[in-house]
Amino acid sequence: ESIAVIYGGVSAEREISLRSGQAVLNALKHEGLSVAGYDVQTLDDLVHIAQNHTLVFMALHGRWGEDGQVQAVLQSLGVPFTGSGMAASALAMDKIRTKYVWQGAGLPTPHFQHISAKNLDDVDWLSIPLPAMVKASHEGSSIGLFKVNNLDELQSGVYKALTHDHEVLVEQWIAGREFTFAILGDTVLPAIELRTQHDFYDYDAKYVSGDTQYLCPADLKASQLVAFNALALRAFNILGASGIGRIDLMLDETQQPWLIELNTLPGMTDMSLVPKAAEVFGLSYGELCVAILGQALD
Ligand code: DAL
Ligand code: MG
Repeated sequence: ESIAVIYGGVSAEREISLRSGQAVLNALKHEGLSVAGYDVQTLDDLVHIAQNHTLVFMALHGRWGEDGQVQAVLQSLGVPFTGSGMAASALAMDKIRTKYVWQGAGLPTPHFQHISAKNLDDVDWLSIPLPAMVKASHEGSSIGLFKVNNLDELQSGVYKALTHDHEVLVEQWIAGREFTFAILGDTVLPAIELRTQHDFYDYDAKYVSGDTQYLCPADLKASQLVAFNALALRAFNILGASGIGRIDLMLDETQQPWLIELNTLPGMTDMSLVPKAAEVFGLSYGELCVAILGQALD
């Protein structure tokens, strides 16, 4: 058996993916597995790698990697790979349609406006509650993400986000606590609470400054933990996700949880969240990588 770890890619999250991929590759080597790493940039690269390996560890993030396109190729070639299949990957990469599905299933997700370059003239700007989060619908790692507090910021935030994506959502700002729930197979790993010194958990807080506090296990009542774990798992399953993922959730001041998004290929860097939750669960980084591989073969 030979395993390919694929990373890098061509998305805006390329730098993060290189960090995830190198860490996974080193860990799997250390576990004694027969493994090779590849910075995949073209369809030809991908097909060539898939034809020469029996299992693919996905360490790509963002478009062409996390969004179902790479999964579709691997599925077509019949090569097993880690994480979700093409449909769930495509859905989860689309924050707007993820929220429509959650709403349709009666799951709580903050109210939002769906804006595209095409309907920009019809937007009733004054009706949008502020503050809000403006988000490029198909990005990750806080790329194309802005907190806006007034009408000027709202409009310029939407125009900026539209340079990253053809669709943008303006999501109601939830004041409260921020959590993330890693899911491995059908197990929810210990919740992490993120306490950032920044206004929100932005790119700098995620990957650069190192001043975010991570509380794991999170300080939640047992009854809340049970309810939020079930909510996270339901949110994951309803999108058809499998193997590995990470649900981000906000808890408002009335103790109401709100689902924010699902990441189907969550970061695996030394600063990333899933490895922190796994460690508290009792899995070292290497054991986590092996467990993710095992999910792909289930
Ligand atoms: N999109 C980044 C890699 C994450 O969710 O961790
Ligand atoms: Mg994300």
